[in-house]
Order: sequence, then structure tokens, then C-alpha cells
Amino acid sequence: MKVLVAGGTGYIGSHTVVELMEKGFDVVIVDNLSNSFPEVVDSITEITGKRPDFIELDLADTDSASEFFAQYKGIDAAIHFAAYKAVGESVEKPLIYYRNNIYSLINLMENMEKHGIRNLVFSSSCTVYGQPDELPVSEQSPIKPAWSPYGNTKQISEEIIRDVCNVSSLKAIALRYFNPIGAHPSALIGEYPIGIPNNLMPFITQTAIGKREVLSVFGDDYPTPDGTAIRDYIHVVDLAQAHVVAVERMFEDRGKENFEIFNLGTGNGFSVLEVIRSFEKVTGLKLNYKITGRRPGDIEKVFADTAFANQELGWKAIRGLDEMTLSAWNWELALKERKK
Ligand code: UD1
Repeated sequence: MKVLVAGGTGYIGSHTVVELMEKGFDVVIVDNLSNSFPEVVDSITEITGKRPDFIELDLADTDSASEFFAQYKGIDAAIHFAAYKAVGESVEKPLIYYRNNIYSLINLMENMEKHGIRNLVFSSSCTVYGQPDELPVSEQSPIKPAWSPYGNTKQISEEIIRDVCNVSSLKAIALRYFNPIGAHPSALIGEYPIGIPNNLMPFITQTAIGKREVLSVFGDDYPTPDGTAIRDYIHVVDLAQAHVVAVERMFEDRGKENFEIFNLGTGNGFSVLEVIRSFEKVTGLKLNYKITGRRPGDIEKVFADTAFANQELGWKAIRGLDEMTLSAWNWELALKERKK
């Protein structure tokens, strides 16, 4: 079976390509390299011993997308990662986010329909829940009005997929990610933020290695045990493996509905300070950080109810926080070696 991975040279995409290939799937990556590098394909080849097909392509460009699907045959399923994801930037540049994230999905789905490709896995986010009224947050929890254009593109995308599934033979699974961190144990692929990182883990590793001077901890006055905000951090390899399970579920026709939604988290919430402590423990380093004010738009606390994903998908995140922070650090060290 051949799987199209849109955004397959990116952080989560590249880890998913590796897991798919290790399970015997053929993979074709399309990526416009707007936030990733072509060398990722070499690293995937080094890990798996096999080279995935790679086509540099902007899926949000309607003509390029049609051309690709007209020429490239034999695709059985698509996983769609090709989207922008910086919350703050989306507030500054909403149209760029709507154009990229929504056009790429529409182009993908139109071409899937045209070429009879019936299986879609979509990268969604726990951001659709906002600050949930009850924790842990299950798939049944209400969707809250999106705080950012980025979050809104995830909500709108889910709605588009649902509407299409209602009237066609398309099967789709949306995976709502909590906070993916960490890197492949080979340290050959990982998160590579271009410019100043927005997310916690790369900011921690870049501070520890000396690329950044100090990590700002955004707020210690939340109503949490240590005052810092709580998230459900999940190892990117666990997350990637869930995509393989989702694809297999569709191929084997095990879905209960045409459109299914699953939370991908561990079910455990950790505070910012707990992540820092874990990092310091596994690396033996002292991290330079300071407490600053809250980041606008941040929520206090979120973690997943994983029961539905565990039962239905037969998948469970198994890697703990220390394994996540250590693998992120090994990746940062490997990046430094490469640049020498
Ligand atoms: C958010 C979204 C997520 C989205 C992601 C994309 C929510 C709940 N989550 O993740 O859906 O996919 O952005 O970027 O809306 N922090 C610091 N200092 C830093 C960076 C972060 O203290 O320099 C703190 C944040 O305040 C937060 C935690 O670390 O409490 C995690 O932040 P981050 O990694 O940016 O992820 P989210 O904001 O949770």
C-alpha cells in the first residue's frame, strides 16, 4: 500500500514516514520545504534503509496539486501534515494561514475525490478544545471558539472533512494532537524550528546548547501546583505510530464511522517547571531560565482523556517525559555535530 504524506519532511511528518516505512508501507512525500529541508529525506533513508519518493510541491497551489495527482499513480491513502502552525504568527498574518491551511486541504481532497483515493488522516490539534471546562478532555468535549486563526483553520478543516465524508465514500480520521516533543532515538530526525522557537521544548534545548541566552517561563501564577501551565506532552514517535494505526484501521475497514476523531496524548499533565526538571535530570545540566509574565492566549491546563483512542485504535503512548526530554537533547547535540 502506498501512502501520500503531505508535509512529510516536517517534524511530525518525517517521524510518521519512518514509522510507515518500517511497517512496510510505500511512501511518497510532498512538501514545499517552507519549514523543512530536503536533507530530511536522506535521514529517513538512513534510518529505514529505503528511500521514499519525494516531490517538492506546494499543495496549496491548485495547479501544482492537480498536476501531481494526474502524474503520480497508485496512492491508497493520504496523511495531511502540510500546514502552518505558529499560533502568534497566525494572529499577525491570518490570510496567509487561511490560504495555506485551507487551500492545501481543499486541493488535496478534490484530487483525492477525482482520483478515487478514499482514505485521509488529518493533523488536528487539542487547540480546538480551548480551555476545557472539564479535565481530562475527551473527544466529546465541546469545541470552543478558536482563539487564533491557526486554531480556527483546524476547526474549519475538521468541518470541511466532515461535510465531505457525509456525502461521499471518503473515510477520514482526524487526530487531535496534544503537545508533541522529542525526537527519533537515532537523533537523525527531530524538530528544526527556523528562527526563534515558539514552543517550549526546542527553546529549552536551544538555551541549554547556547543558541539562546535564557528561557522565559511564561507565568507562575496559574492555579496549578507550582503555578506554571500544564500540558500533555507526548513523544513524537508515539504520535507517529498512531498515524500508522489510523491508516491500517482505514485499510482494514475497521472504522465505526466515515469520519472519526481521536485524541493523541498520554493522559498525563506536566507543568513547565516539571519539563525543565526532567530536562535537567536527564542531561545533568542546569538550565538558565527566568519567570516572566503569561503569554497572551495561553491556557492554564490541558490533558487528554485517552480512553477512546486506547480502546478503539488499540494504541497507547508508552514513552515517558524523561525519554522525551532526553531524545530532544540528543537531537540538539546531533544538530550541533552536523554543523561542525
Ligand atoms: C499550542 C497549541 C497547540 C499548537 C501549538 C503549535 C494549545 C493548548 N496548544 O501549544 O495546539 O499545535 O501551540 O505551536 O493551544 N512556554 C514557556 N516558554 C516558552 C515557550 C513555551 O514557558 O518559551 C510554555 C507555554 O506557556 C505553555 C507550555 O510552555 O505553557 C507549552 O507551550 P508550547 O510548546 O508553545 O505549546 P502550546 O502553547 O501548549
